[in-house]
Amino acid sequence: MKIIAGNWKMNGSRENLVNMVAALQNIETENTVVLCVPYTMLGVTSDNIALGAQDVSTHDHGAYTGEVSAQMVADTGAKYTIVGHSERRQYHGETNDIVRQKAASALAAGLTPIICVGETMDEKQAGKTMEIIESGVRESIPNDVNGKIIVAYEPRWAIGAGLTPTDEEIAAAHKLIADTLSDIGLDGTPVLYGASVKGSNAAQIMSIPNVDGVLVGGASLKPDDFIPIITSVK
Ligand code: 13P
Repeated sequence: MKIIAGNWKMNGSRENLVNMVAALQNIETENTVVLCVPYTMLGVTSDNIALGAQDVSTHDHGAYTGEVSAQMVADTGAKYTIVGHSERRQYHGETNDIVRQKAASALAAGLTPIICVGETMDEKQAGKTMEIIESGVRESIPNDVNGKIIVAYEPRWAIGAGLTPTDEEIAAAHKLIADTLSDIGLDGTPVLYGASVKGSNAAQIMSIPNVDGVLVGGASLKPDDFIPIITSVK
């Protein structure tokens, strides 16, 4: 059983989500399917997929215009939230420290945070991939994890670029993440791979050791692209 999570980023409409939910209604799968959608689409109900947000505030409530708290996300019935996505780190200056606070807020609200880590092209070229991944895991996960978390490895240089690391690179990154999670007492935490996942490469990627599922961007937007990913693995 794998976790297949979609990240719609700033795309789609409620109508698109209703259509996706309908299209997924009769899919035979034992995989867990999650769609992380814009806040405005949360609250659409579905029997077989869970919804998530793409970010939460570090704050619970208060004078923070434009922010949405984890509690508010949970209030819509959503079960998950992404934190520390590459685009939040890139465009909003989110550091591991901020991501850890957001993950803690999510856990306190009963949400499962999907905590993203991964290296930029500059970091990769400087030979720092492993260092960035390990510090990302150690620094972005709260000290007291009193609930379920998911980690997502997203090589930032590969996102939306149609590029994927080699199987060996994915295997090495996921082994490091699994070992680091074990070292901090979080054995068994699911680790997803994300960046340019599509129907044609999903099964292969999910056959790599320590890859417990995928976090899919562009190919999660349309049922014709997303369903083959969901059904590519048992
Ligand atoms: P793509 O699948 O479009 O490369 O996006 C990956 C991603 O950022 C998922 O969070």
